[in-house]
Amino acid sequence: MAQREILRFGDKRLREHSEEVTVFDEELWELLDDMHETMAAADGIGLAAPQVGVAKRVVVIDLGDDTGKIELINPVITAMRGKQLEPEGCLSYPKKRGVVKRPAKIKAKAFDRYGKLMVYKAGGLLARAFCHEIDHLNGILYKDKVIEWTEDEEDAE
Ligand code: NI
Repeated sequence: MAQREILRFGDKRLREHSEEVTVFDEELWELLDDMHETMAAADGIGLAAPQVGVAKRVVVIDLGDDTGKIELINPVITAMRGKQLEPEGCLSYPKKRGVVKRPAKIKAKAFDRYGKLMVYKAGGLLARAFCHEIDHLNGILYKDKVIEWTEDEEDAE
């Protein structure tokens, strides 16, 4: 495992539309392992592959609770309802936070690292993390959606 460089807002690679993963091989596993290590070292709760310069539809999430480590390959949100307005941050834009409107609850499907289809239900912070990270795969950054900047450095993602 190795830490990778996290790209910062302004880097054009963060605006690319990432490609679907078609091969679930050791290269993918290495990417996932490196993403977990990179995210943990940066004290993050979510990281998308384009943030480490890899334009593939790969996400890792770890809220640091008993949900455990989540790995999403080619994730798709299949249902959403309600709304929540909470501050979020991004490892590509350290020390900034802004309020973003997200669905209160989501359902999603994604493959795991072995190519097995998984189904997820999420609410609260986990729903926000899914939405935020999947946005990254489409070149969308949370700053595009911020309603109000809070600049609260605590608990920054
Ligand atoms: Ni982000």
